[in-house]
Amino acid sequence: MKKIVVLTGAGISAESGLKTFRDDNGMWKNYRFEEVASPIAWDRDRELVLEFYNLRRKQLLEVEPNAAHKALVKLEDKYHVKIITQNVDDLHERAGSKNILHLHGELRKSRSTVDENLIYNIEGWELKTGDKCEKGSQLRPHVVWFGEQVPQIVSAIEIAKQADIVIVIGTSMVVYPAAGLIKYVPDEVPKYLIDPKAGKNVYVQNLKIIKDKAGIVVPHLVDDLMNIAIS
Ligand code: OAD
Repeated sequence: MKKIVVLTGAGISAESGLKTFRDDNGMWKNYRFEEVASPIAWDRDRELVLEFYNLRRKQLLEVEPNAAHKALVKLEDKYHVKIITQNVDDLHERAGSKNILHLHGELRKSRSTVDENLIYNIEGWELKTGDKCEKGSQLRPHVVWFGEQVPQIVSAIEIAKQADIVIVIGTSMVVYPAAGLIKYVPDEVPKYLIDPKAGKNVYVQNLKIIKDKAGIVVPHLVDDLMNIAIS
């Protein structure tokens, strides 16, 4: 089976009802990321940081995977599919995709502040001051903040290098190192970029840009790829 690598960003979840970051009315139009998504913010105002992620988690529990998340699951019948997502939501998982790497962490998990290997599922939507890991330290959201390392990037680069086909969906491609992943994909590999506003900042060989919403385009693209698959 051929290997399909799918790189997703906030745009794939927009039609489920989750805000993107940089569109009009996006998350970073209403919040300053330094104040809610950085180690400095955590040191300065822990309650505010917890509240920001609690609200996002609450909203996540109210939405469902859309046609794009669901269509990607079908690809697994005829391809080895690896999804590399910048999203902290769990909509790929809930749609049924099996192989998902979360570059920027997972909203429904918490992590110890003294031992990064201690990661827990969050029951419900709230993580509170006083919620502690088994070593007694405050739990923080298991997400990558601005100014922090992206540990999963090493695995993601290896996955990108192995791709036979790449599909990029709903990302502005401005946040590094995630935005640089496409450069590791060999030139001859066919690449699709699905984003209504795509086009200004991606310079790679063999790129087909489809300027439309994921929920409309992805199901058709998946059908086309299923038809040409060698089983
Ligand atoms: P952005 O908000 O930067 O970009 C979202 C992209 O989705 C834009 O290019 C939109 O045009 C596109 N889009 C909107 N609706 C769409 C739809 N229905 N179908 C397809 N595309 C659509 O979000 P990301 O690129 O994911 O990081 O942002 C990258 C990172 O920046 C995030 O993971 C987050 C943020 O700060 C951290 O929090 C560490």
